[in-house]
Amino acid sequence: MQTALPHPLLPQFSKLLEMAMGLYYPEKCWTDLEHRIAAAAPALGMANTEECIRKLLSASSLTQGQTQILASHLTIGETYFFREKGCFDVLEGRILPELMRVAAREHRQVRIWSAGCCTGEEPYSIAILLDRLSQHTGESNATILATDINPIFLNKAADGVYNEWSFRATPGWIKERYFKPRKNGRFEILPRIRKQVNFSYLNLAEEVYPSIINGTDALDLIVCRNVFIYFSPDSVMKIGKSFHRSLVKGGWFVLSPVEVSVSSQLFPQFELTAFPDATLYRKSDSLAPRETMPDEYPIPPLESVNGPARGLASPSCLQDEEMHVSLTCVSAETSNRGTPEISAHAAGTDNNVEVHDEFEDLCHMAQSYANQGELTEAARWCGKAIAVNKLNPAAHYLLATIRQELGQAPAAKQSLIRTLYLDPDFVLAHFTLGNLCMLDDQHREAERHFDNALALLALRPHDELLPESNGLTMGRLKDVIESARLGIFARLGKDKHSD
Ligand SMILES: C[S@@+](CC[C@H](N)C(=O)[O-])C[C@H]1O[C@@H](n2cnc3c(N)ncnc32)[C@H](O)[C@@H]1O
Repeated sequence: MQTALPHPLLPQFSKLLEMAMGLYYPEKCWTDLEHRIAAAAPALGMANTEECIRKLLSASSLTQGQTQILASHLTIGETYFFREKGCFDVLEGRILPELMRVAAREHRQVRIWSAGCCTGEEPYSIAILLDRLSQHTGESNATILATDINPIFLNKAADGVYNEWSFRATPGWIKERYFKPRKNGRFEILPRIRKQVNFSYLNLAEEVYPSIINGTDALDLIVCRNVFIYFSPDSVMKIGKSFHRSLVKGGWFVLSPVEVSVSSQLFPQFELTAFPDATLYRKSDSLAPRETMPDEYPIPPLESVNGPARGLASPSCLQDEEMHVSLTCVSAETSNRGTPEISAHAAGTDNNVEVHDEFEDLCHMAQSYANQGELTEAARWCGKAIAVNKLNPAAHYLLATIRQELGQAPAAKQSLIRTLYLDPDFVLAHFTLGNLCMLDDQHREAERHFDNALALLALRPHDELLPESNGLTMGRLKDVIESARLGIFARLGKDKHSD
């Protein structure tokens, strides 16, 4: 490995990248890393690679802006519609119809997350499948969250305009039925499909999920394909554990076929289920009843017989035969995060200790059901808690988030307005109202709510934890809201453009 940089800058920097972004740069790739940092340095405001690395190493953590710039130089945005057809065949033929049936029966929405969505082709492909399937039932009862670390990709995704290259393995009728031709041989996704996907920034290496705040809880399906190829095995295992907590019992986790073939040791908490065209991971549902799938069958983990198992980490600089990561590198963390905190701690408005305890217990039940995705039950328990103490803003906020997940946006808005009536400084209520207005295309209203939230956040220290947020800091929420506002500006610009 030849590098002009003094030792140990590159090993230290590759460690930082692994911690902050999950990205894996072993020694063989340090020359490649050096070139990429050289390319990123001007955007990071630094004159050269060495100064850039020293500056980034000297700070306690990377800012979101720095992370985004690094992401745009270190990750690859390779994707297209209906990539890896086998996955989509199984989703369309098996997984989504079952999820839609169960959700309809439980009067809730199917919740899907495309993690590492790149420029949007993957989540829009899923939205197209849902649209096709809902033609039999009349309406789609699903929401799709699509996240990525690279803001340039996210902006392109939200635009929904693509060139021929994005359709390189896509049947022609999909383009004809779901896209409108635009200038210069480009194609724009139909608004009804675009509306079904919510794009936002999320760094998978950060412990910000599962969370009711960013919509990464109580999910039925997580699709995270061709993302872990950049990650160290330790990071992949950590993400796998968080995905497991993000899913409801019986929920599915989809990797690309090549990732499945090398990853069984990394996701011991999941069951592997093989279908004719793809193999998927599933969160065991042994404690919950579910629909049966007659021709699915569990298969044992793929063993690599003589010791070393293949990890996923394969930066583009590694040759295929070098993609072997000894299992000894994969530290087996054993601790699991406990049940997320319950939203009742703000229950202090009634001095009667018994009433207070009863209220806390009821909120606790509501939160526990919500964490398991049993939203109708969660709403029922939350209603009971509010009957005991009508003046607690946190309980109304909890009900709002449950109603939101049930797809009851108007009722959720009502609960949020009550929350703010009881506590006008309830930042998360302003934020959630902003999100709901965004979904209704009320961009000006959304902007107003986001501005209120930002004004309140400006008064608080960056590192302070937000109440009712499962560990989110004030600073992090500020970053999230600022990204959401960029989305609004893009939409407003777009609306003006199309007027
Ligand atoms: C090759 S693309 C995969 C796109 C799509 N999932 C597919 O299979 O076609 C990998 C994506 O992962 C994203 N990514 C890389 N590191 C990430 C991280 N730490 N958090 C979130 N996304 C990340 C990249 O920005 C990129 O968009």
